[in-house]
Amino acid sequence: MRGSLTRALTGALGLIAAAAGQVATAVPVAADSVVVGGRQVQISDAPWVVALSSRDRFGGTRAGQFCGGVVVAPTKVLTAAHCLGREVLGGEPWEVRDFVVIAGRAALRGQGGQEVRISDTWVNPDYDPTTNSGDLAVLTLRSPLPQSYVIGVAPAGDAAYAPGTAADVYGWGDTTGNGTYASTLRTARVQVLPDSACERAYPGGFGVPYRSDTMLCAGDPQGGRDACQGDSGGPLVAKGLLVGLVSWGSGCGQAENPGVYTRVSAVLPTRF
Ligand code: ARG
Repeated sequence: MRGSLTRALTGALGLIAAAAGQVATAVPVAADSVVVGGRQVQISDAPWVVALSSRDRFGGTRAGQFCGGVVVAPTKVLTAAHCLGREVLGGEPWEVRDFVVIAGRAALRGQGGQEVRISDTWVNPDYDPTTNSGDLAVLTLRSPLPQSYVIGVAPAGDAAYAPGTAADVYGWGDTTGNGTYASTLRTARVQVLPDSACERAYPGGFGVPYRSDTMLCAGDPQGGRDACQGDSGGPLVAKGLLVGLVSWGSGCGQAENPGVYTRVSAVLPTRF
């Protein structure tokens, strides 16, 4: 059962995923529970976080936000490959005429920062939509963002990947697990978990298995803090470096079902 639900969650975003999320979240998450269990954050504290937006497709009330992303070079934004899927965008990325990256803005309804158009999209050719393995895409921006927005990527083997390391996830996603989307940027403190924790939670068989070669596991051992629907593609940051992209999970904020992230060091090509 969880298999199909998990797949539904990973395959769709925004309003579509909100509906699926309600079904999947059997246990309600804590009320103050980014991002569930999080807190509001200023964009100056996390200038590398961006929103992916299409008002045409997702409506204007939250500036068309449907996924997160992270600035890794002035013209390069990483996001989740599943954010660019046909089920999400309703077509190919270049067919979404008003597809923009919103940078330098925490309050979606505000005027701060800038909206930048996309000149190119690269989806990891090894991305597997059925297992979510390799869930990474690179957007090339038409005009560069300030260098001060750029975050470094933790190389493979960096201490930032060690289990127990504190990590922060950022996004405008569901704050409750019930479809309450944030209008200002939020962050939640989680920790990098040992692969064994996710292998136990997501053994495969029925559902999608956790794969330690392309995925990273993080969560709150007590439950309550986690990424959720709408946060996909957004960054997981440890020791000041990018380690993960929000990818999938079963429900949100449940101790026994940690968040699963794209292991950026393993999936990001050296050239893109
Ligand atoms: N697939 C979701 C999205 O598209 C992200 C889910 C993350 N879930 C979690 N429990 N960490 O927004």
